[in-house]
Amino acid sequence: MARYKIAWLPGDGIGVDVLDAAKIVLDKIQLDVEYIHGDIGWEFWCKEGDAFPQRTIDLLKNVDTALFGAITSKPVKAAQAELIPELQTKGLTYRSPIVRMRQMFDLYTCLRPCKAYPGNPLNFKEGIDLVVFRENTEDLYAGVEFAPPPQELVDVLSKISKPFAPFAKLSVDQYAISCKINTKRGSERIVKAAFDFARRFRRKKVTIVHKANVVRASDGLFLEVAKDVAKQYPEIQTDDANIDAMTMWLLKNPFQYDVLVAPNLYGDIISDLCAQMVGGLGFGCSGNIGTTLAVFEPTHGSAPKYAGQYKVNPIATILAVKMMLDWLGETEKSARLENAVAAVIKEGNMRTYDMGGNANTLDMAKAIVEKT
Ligand code: NAI
Ligand code: MG
Repeated sequence: MARYKIAWLPGDGIGVDVLDAAKIVLDKIQLDVEYIHGDIGWEFWCKEGDAFPQRTIDLLKNVDTALFGAITSKPVKAAQAELIPELQTKGLTYRSPIVRMRQMFDLYTCLRPCKAYPGNPLNFKEGIDLVVFRENTEDLYAGVEFAPPPQELVDVLSKISKPFAPFAKLSVDQYAISCKINTKRGSERIVKAAFDFARRFRRKKVTIVHKANVVRASDGLFLEVAKDVAKQYPEIQTDDANIDAMTMWLLKNPFQYDVLVAPNLYGDIISDLCAQMVGGLGFGCSGNIGTTLAVFEPTHGSAPKYAGQYKVNPIATILAVKMMLDWLGETEKSARLENAVAAVIKEGNMRTYDMGGNANTLDMAKAIVEKT
């Protein structure tokens, strides 16, 4: 039996292109592993009414980790129109597999390292090396939303909240409510994940990102819990910053920061900002990590216009493989792979279109393999 089982989830569009590139790299790395293909994506929505079939969910229950490409999503009505005729009348609603995966397997950490590899023409500044920990399951993504708000809720809020008075005067079709829910447990475990990472990889500082001066209840809780957790890691410097100021400071002086930890929405924002500073979609990789499963992926989507053309940048996915190797504890292999990626970027002979070249996706993977 192989040492590891990895679910292989290419999904749609360029998800296939970039996972083919990842396979070239993994084959060279010689991991003792069994790859098991999983059905996921648009095709399965159209044919079966489910983009994330039960057999794929079962597969994820029985693997060590998963590599995921990308999926195509469409708005609910457009999605329904593409179902096969037999399914048209069943009243099915399209739901994003990745969001379901995060909830179903409690993948509470979204980890996004953003490193400017020397010589990448897309670097905002050389030397940037940031790691974002984004809480993945609660906050404004808790899914507790009302449009229009039900009368019971309006009645309760009118009774218990003074600031609600101006809204209570409106008819319910004139406003919507989304609840931002931050729990002590959810805040504690993401902040711990960030500090444990800082300790393991000898990072100097963790910055807690919030807006606790205004969003006093939920962000106040997050900040308080985070400061408490920080006390258990005296060797790591800690500070905190408001999300708005954080975006300015990150642009002004990214070198002042190291590891960043934030509730869901702020984490979403800063991780895109940080990814863009180190090359954008072709370089953004992410891990969705829980206690029993972790799913690694490039952050880009299925880019349908490039599907099957093997033109897109495979580095985001290859860096996701690097993260996966770290998670499996294969740190020597992970370091070797990262050095190879860095060497190819630095040499600059092999560049995909986003980097100003015209290299083929698989050729770029082969060039990386040659450096391992
Ligand atoms: P996208 O990320 O698929 O592509 C946007 C543009 O970014 C592309 O047209 C291309 O110019 C560039 N790009 C993306 N990946 C690249 C790479 N590896 N190398 C070089 N250039 C790259 O986003 P878009 O067009 O908004 O969405 C397309 C589909 O993907 C939609 O159906 C969307 O719902 C889905 N999507 C899925 C995600 C996922 O699976 N995690 C994330 C984002 C979007
Ligand atoms: Mg995003």
